[in-house]
Amino acid sequence: MLEQPSSSFLTACLLFVAASLPAIIIYRLFLIYRKRMDEVCTTIIPEVNTITTPYKSQKIIKKDELELQKPTPVPVKDEVKITQETPQTVSKSFKLSSGVRYVPKDGNRTGYNNPNRPNAGEDAFFVYNNNDVGSRLVGALGVADGVGGYGELGVDAGLMAWQMMENSVENFKLVGSRELYRTPREILHRSYEKIVNEKQVECGGTTACLVSIFKDATTDNMFLNYSNLGDSGFLLVRNGEVVFRTVDQTHYFNAPYQLAIPPKGRVVLMNDPNESDTLYEEDLITVKEGDYIILATDGMWDNVFDEDVVEVLQKNIIQHGSDIEKIVDSTSEELLSKTYAISVNTPSPTLTPFQRYAQQFRRNWVGGKVDDITLVVACISIKE
Ligand SMILES: *[C@@H]1O[C@H](CO)[C@@H](O)[C@H](O)[C@H]1NC(C)=O
Ligand SMILES: *[C@@H]1O[C@H](CO)[C@@H](O)[C@H](O)[C@H]1NC(C)=O
Ligand SMILES: *[C@@H]1O[C@H](CO)[C@@H](O)[C@H](O)[C@H]1NC(C)=O
Repeated sequence: MLEQPSSSFLTACLLFVAASLPAIIIYRLFLIYRKRMDEVCTTIIPEVNTITTPYKSQKIIKKDELELQKPTPVPVKDEVKITQETPQTVSKSFKLSSGVRYVPKDGNRTGYNNPNRPNAGEDAFFVYNNNDVGSRLVGALGVADGVGGYGELGVDAGLMAWQMMENSVENFKLVGSRELYRTPREILHRSYEKIVNEKQVECGGTTACLVSIFKDATTDNMFLNYSNLGDSGFLLVRNGEVVFRTVDQTHYFNAPYQLAIPPKGRVVLMNDPNESDTLYEEDLITVKEGDYIILATDGMWDNVFDEDVVEVLQKNIIQHGSDIEKIVDSTSEELLSKTYAISVNTPSPTLTPFQRYAQQFRRNWVGGKVDDITLVVACISIKE
């Protein structure tokens, strides 16, 4: 008689456990699924979010500072020859002085053997200065971040990123030498198209950010245009103030817009170059000698806040005075070591932009995010 209640209690317990088991399993599976989505984020996505309207960024432009007046009308159609006006009032020629730094997230890579492609992990970059005298293209910058998920398929995720950057340089060279005007978005489009048409990459995905500086035909005025697909980006800094900043494009948590060559039979996240963030026809960002462009992959932007980036820059400007080359070099060096330290939580975790971002999605994240880091600090300066 004494055993009766205890055995029915046991039965009740067993029933309870049996009943909650499926719920626990489903919940565990959900956690695993979510974790996988966050980490891999890219390759096996059930549905593709097609967004056809071009993305428009939230701009931090101070109108008075940016002098939003139109320069000599610029033909924006592809392959339009720039009318060569006599450059009487043009007195200066400009260049981009730059410092570039990168660090791969996990040391050396395997299966990667190209001396022209430094080991920036799955990141890639370029700095192009146009040496053609009289050309209106001053120069261009680019960074790209190969999508890590492709690594799981045995594909070097950096290949697509490098191919995009190399094709872009080729296209910018064409622009420089033939005096064509092509916008960064057109160049993004052509570079991607070449990968597709010539099957330059077996499969892969990448984000990309291209920035170009053009000069007015008849004056020393310069203007900037860009094409940004995904979560790389840049700051335009003038006199210690951010006058322009790009905004990230993501499909969902930690899944940036990306260009892709999908693996056979897979549905992947895939965007068109025409979805990249750029300037509207009526917008104009004029730039001046002494302006700084700080361009980086999310490896930096996830770890360091804009104001801290600007602080490092300003400190170096004060320290090195008129030595532009020294400023860009030491700023990039300092930004890399600062970013790297934060990313690996050294000496201890600090609040990061990624932590803030994760919080918006109710994810637990504290401190830095380990990633490939690539950054370019460029200054618009006078060519000697
Ligand atoms: C990477 O490879 C280089 C050259 O082979 C070597 O000197 C270096 O120690 C390696 N670094 C790591 C982190 O494995
Ligand atoms: C963007 O590209 C896609 C795919 O190539 C195309 O179908 C679409 O019409 C383009 N949209 C615009 C606005 O050009
Ligand atoms: C910038 O690029 C966009 C996209 O190609 C283009 O529509 C716009 O007119 C360009 N603006 C300037 C000032 O070049």
